[in-house]
Amino acid sequence: MAAAGSAVGLGNIWGFPTQTASNGGAAFVLVYLILAFCLAYPAFMAELLIGRYGQANAVTSLQKMSRTLWQKRFAFVVGFGGIICAALILSFYGILAGWMMSYTIEPVARFAGLNSSADWLISQSLVRNLLFTSLFMVLTVLIIRSGVEQGIEKWSKRLMPLLIGLLILLIIYVMTLDGAAEGLNAYLNPDISRVLEPELLISALGQAFFSLSLGTSVMVIYGSYIGKNENLVILGAQVTLIDVSIAFLAGLLIIPSMYVAQAQGVAIFAEDGSLISGSSLVFTVLPSLFEGMGAVGLFVGFVFFLLMSIAALTSSISMLEGPVSYVVERHDMARSKATTLIGIGIFVLSSIIVFNIEFMLDLVAMISTQYGQPIIAMLCCVFVGWIWQRNDLLNEIKQGNDTVEHSLFWKIWPWYTKFICPAAIALVFYHTI
Ligand code: PFF
Repeated sequence: MAAAGSAVGLGNIWGFPTQTASNGGAAFVLVYLILAFCLAYPAFMAELLIGRYGQANAVTSLQKMSRTLWQKRFAFVVGFGGIICAALILSFYGILAGWMMSYTIEPVARFAGLNSSADWLISQSLVRNLLFTSLFMVLTVLIIRSGVEQGIEKWSKRLMPLLIGLLILLIIYVMTLDGAAEGLNAYLNPDISRVLEPELLISALGQAFFSLSLGTSVMVIYGSYIGKNENLVILGAQVTLIDVSIAFLAGLLIIPSMYVAQAQGVAIFAEDGSLISGSSLVFTVLPSLFEGMGAVGLFVGFVFFLLMSIAALTSSISMLEGPVSYVVERHDMARSKATTLIGIGIFVLSSIIVFNIEFMLDLVAMISTQYGQPIIAMLCCVFVGWIWQRNDLLNEIKQGNDTVEHSLFWKIWPWYTKFICPAAIALVFYHTI
């Protein structure tokens, strides 16, 4: 559940629908689903196994399976690269999560009659962004200081069904409104001629790896916390399914909502058919949907953005855990000190982004998610396929799953991770360049 908590976050409800809307609708959905199951799931298994075998942070775990000096160096580059990637992601993720928090408080302010404060909460400003980013970072740091095992699973267990339930109710509501049918068509009826467009492919690849938190050392460290009696093959498949389903549901809500908002006169597309407000799409479309519900809308808006803030928190916790566990284990620093120092460092980076939001937010997101994550995840597959001894690998998977040797998974996955995953990821990059 903690791994699912890391996977399910803003990437599902903000990232996936936004990318879908900006990349041709259903064609993107189709490519995303294929890449999530055929590339992200096998890479996810590789990271979980590395962690459970190594029982430590990404660098130490990868070095445990290395035999020569250059392999150990390579292990350092891959493991440390993932940790840097996690820190970079958290620096922009905290800003977006801060927006979610301010959108949670806005309906409360409005309910209390504080209309000007409510307006301030949902308009872009330096002060608001700094305030809510710091609030979110403090929450993340406080949870990580007390140790990752406590609490996260409990939170995730309650959050997930609530989030799914609310999404389904909202989807049913949206489907009754004018314009929804057109949105449904845009979401589910792919234009096959677009599926090989380089921009679409690289975005779908980045989105699939972002959504499963890959290439960041996070799933390696979570793998190290999983008991040896657990069946990793099933566990990995469950997390992937939960993650993809929630993203799919979010798209089913947001894409039709865009068309509903447009039917109500909100400007969503420019004259040339491109999106007017890329990254703030969700913040344009959803509030206009909630507004249309009258007084109930205030309550629905509050619950929705609260759930989003908690989902963001269970993801940001995992991002901070990557660098913290590295420093605690390798440099023998106390957990609370390491968490505070790294938290402050990341907040400084977030502040730099906030001050240059127009040009840095998208840039940092693109470098870390579209390039960093797939490359590091690809190198983890290379590690598992080419450096880890096959017998050690089998012994690790067998724990908690003794019949795996005769399963379809063991017949396909090892060579698939060795050849297909690295080659396919490299091919997407080649195609884009
Ligand atoms: N998977 C998270 C989401 O979809 O929101 C984002 C994420 C979490 C990315 C942890 C990277 C990471 F290490």
